[in-house]
Amino acid sequence: MLERVEAIIAQLVDEVGYANASKLFAKLSGGKRLRARLILTIAPEAPTAPLLGAIVELIHAASLLHDDVIDEAMVRRGVESVNATHGSKMAIMLGDILYSKAFSELTSFDPLISRAIAESVTKLSVGEMMDVEMANAFNTDRDLYLKMLYLKTATLIESCAYSAAILAGKDADAYATYGKNLGLAFQIVDDILDITADEATLGKPSLNDFSEGKVTLPYIDLYERLDHEQQKRLLNNHAKVLSTEEKVWIRTKMDENSIIEHSYKHARVLCDEAIGAIGDDVALRAIIESVIQRSH
Ligand code: IPE
Ligand code: IPE
Ligand code: MG
Ligand code: MG
Repeated sequence: MLERVEAIIAQLVDEVGYANASKLFAKLSGGKRLRARLILTIAPEAPTAPLLGAIVELIHAASLLHDDVIDEAMVRRGVESVNATHGSKMAIMLGDILYSKAFSELTSFDPLISRAIAESVTKLSVGEMMDVEMANAFNTDRDLYLKMLYLKTATLIESCAYSAAILAGKDADAYATYGKNLGLAFQIVDDILDITADEATLGKPSLNDFSEGKVTLPYIDLYERLDHEQQKRLLNNHAKVLSTEEKVWIRTKMDENSIIEHSYKHARVLCDEAIGAIGDDVALRAIIESVIQRSH
């Protein structure tokens, strides 16, 4: 079924009718397709599930194109980002093409679905804006961080689960709760991997978030546990290119304070809430496990 999604994605991009856009898009590597897999898993029998999966993957790809411009990221999915190879202008416009094509195709769906997906993109964009603003200072407010994370990452996954449930005639609110908690756990694991994964696996530099100014959950937890002198040292490293020595220090302090275990526990609790909302389901539990156990 995922092959069907891939074929529709290529077809939708070709329908735009601009060869250079198709060529540029073809250079992107596909990613894990989590959002499409989620839709296909919740609504395996629905004839329009592959189309919806393709649409949300176009939306997701657009958000990443823009995100890499915002973050000045040179690598995406293990290869050079479009802003790195073709410049920010091309990345922004390819993103706009993908967003608008996706929204055009959404109009063929039940308005409950098209509205839910479109609104989640508004929220995603608000979350990206908050992420940028919050990187200007060392944020220690956990609730604010979780709110931003919900908007930036979880809302699209939530709307995918909600929409797929509508397609399948299932309880949409319950599936939305599943998607929301899965999405939160997904981004927490993403924050963890930025600290724990090696650069080759991750496809980007390690401890990159903190250098970009992003004080993710593990850093908020760490800050709370450090003594005053150590807090000053951590603050000093915020939003800077880190030396190897400082990277080692941060990782050592995280180890000493079991910060990563703590963050994984947080993700686990969210996953339990996700499963709790829909009752046990082998395939949806497998998606959760793939999110918790992923290495990139
Ligand atoms: C990356 O999402 C951006 C986040 C929301 C954390 P994914 O990890 O799902 O990206 P791909 O599509 O698999 O590359
Ligand atoms: C992911 O944000 C992009 C969106 C949710 C739109 P991040 O900046 O946190 O993720 P990576 O690390 O670039 O994938
Ligand atoms: Mg980024
Ligand atoms: Mg970002």
